[in-house]
Amino acid sequence: MRILGIETSCDETAAAIVERDEAGRGTILSNVVRSQLEEHAAYGGVVPELAARAHVSHLDHIIARACSEAGLALEDVDGIAATAGPGLIGGVLVGLTTAKALAASLEKPLIAVNHLEGHALTARLTDGLAFPYLLLLVSGGHSQFVLVRGVGAYERWGTTIDDALGEAFDKVAKLLGLGVPGGPEVEKWAAQGDTRRFKFPRPLLKEDRLDFSFSGLKTAVRLQAEAIAPLSQKDIADICASFQAAVTDIVVNRTGMALHRFRSLLPDAMPALVVAGGVAANKAIGHGLRDVAASEGARLIVPPIPLCTDNGAMVAWAGAERLVLGDHDGFNVAAKARWPLDSGDMRLGDAA
Ligand code: KG4
Ligand code: ZN
Repeated sequence: MRILGIETSCDETAAAIVERDEAGRGTILSNVVRSQLEEHAAYGGVVPELAARAHVSHLDHIIARACSEAGLALEDVDGIAATAGPGLIGGVLVGLTTAKALAASLEKPLIAVNHLEGHALTARLTDGLAFPYLLLLVSGGHSQFVLVRGVGAYERWGTTIDDALGEAFDKVAKLLGLGVPGGPEVEKWAAQGDTRRFKFPRPLLKEDRLDFSFSGLKTAVRLQAEAIAPLSQKDIADICASFQAAVTDIVVNRTGMALHRFRSLLPDAMPALVVAGGVAANKAIGHGLRDVAASEGARLIVPPIPLCTDNGAMVAWAGAERLVLGDHDGFNVAAKARWPLDSGDMRLGDAA
């Protein structure tokens, strides 16, 4: 089965064609991503209206390229999948409406994919991972643990009560006057800095819950920066290093707790931890996760970074996983700005 996947929920315009064979193995035939970094750079963050307009301008070409790189015509695919949420609603509408038009004119099934489900199932595309497993999704918009029991069977174990982790990196970069995207900039500066110079808070560390909170940490960074301004190069590097050490401690601590819970809930399952989202590219956090996975006896899977960040292949693959189970959507399916993974409408069989 071959599926075209369309992703437009944030600032990447993406399309891909993925093949799923009878044994359930996936192959990426094409995966085209156009980032809108330049469109938004001057504003220090994604501007929803500009994002939607850029998706309108580029999506057709990106889909055409996804077809030509796969060596296929649109008629050759077996279904059209698009992110239907959560995300910036203008962009989601562009992708979903395009998918509906293609599905209607080609008379192919439409699969309205939850963006988070795309991230959640990517490790099955890249590594053929069996259910169940634990997902840590850390991106610009999300920080959450999800127990992935099967397609459509997700339990969210914890989320952020304020900023997402990538957002915290971006805000710290902005207040230090660094470039965008903030995460890689902070990581670069942190490599030259002293992790112990500043003692930043580790919110919720002592609590027995799997939620995250990063806004207090971000405020502590701002107050520290203001207290020692003007900042030297060394000050910036030390702040970045101390901040990155604090978030690494938080993520590692929470992941240890989540793996512990996984093992007690599912004693017969081989524990596996999948990391997705742009922050998965961070090496300090990655090292911390490797250590905690090893000490908890869990397999760690970090898909290649272009598949951890937003892309069309993950949407196509989630569409394939659903379609093979007989699940697809009617043309009345709505775009959703908010759509938690563990909401009732993720269950299979609810769709038209
Ligand atoms: O998954 P993603 O590409 O887009 C969504 O948010 O959906 O994630 C982007 C986020 C940004 O906040 C970016 O600063 C962060 O991931 N990020 C990083 C690194 N690379 C990207 N954060 C920390 N360290 C990195 N190396
Ligand atoms: Zn994403």
